[in-house]
Amino acid sequence: DGVRRRDFINIAAVSALGVGGVFVLLPLISQMAPSADVLAESSTDVDVSLIEPGQSIKEIFRKQPLFVRRLTPAEIAEANAVPTGSLRDAQSLADRTKEGHGDLLVTMGVCTHLGCVPLGAAEGENKGEYGGYFCPCHGSHYDTAGRIRKGPAPTNLVVPDYEFTSDTVIRVG
Ligand code: FES
Repeated sequence: DGVRRRDFINIAAVSALGVGGVFVLLPLISQMAPSADVLAESSTDVDVSLIEPGQSIKEIFRKQPLFVRRLTPAEIAEANAVPTGSLRDAQSLADRTKEGHGDLLVTMGVCTHLGCVPLGAAEGENKGEYGGYFCPCHGSHYDTAGRIRKGPAPTNLVVPDYEFTSDTVIRVG
């Protein structure tokens, strides 16, 4: 009988500690997570001066991949040769770039189908049938303007808000 009673007391003590632990931890965790406001306001500066025509770089913007790509004249011509109205998500290359910087394509590296990271931003990766990006998860092909051309993705790769803060630096967000 005596043994049983001690077990009960021990268990009760452990439970009380456990509950206390949860109450102490919760405020700590919520303080560590950045608030939605802070995340929404954070911007990322990217130096684009070293990206050669035909090259892309991968950055991180608000914890997601960001692709910055300098198009070749041939890739620009390819994008402009497509009648915009024939596209699933009708946008011209000019709609998706900044005036005077029509060769710089800035998009999120997030497939608009279910969010995989498409291939095509790194040297030697499969760029898909339209020479832009290819999402291997379910086979979405994006063209040189990052527009969906084939496969299940419903919309073009998202162009985030950004601006040129100098001739060579963009501020995303
Ligand atoms: Fe890209 Fe499905 S997530 S095709």
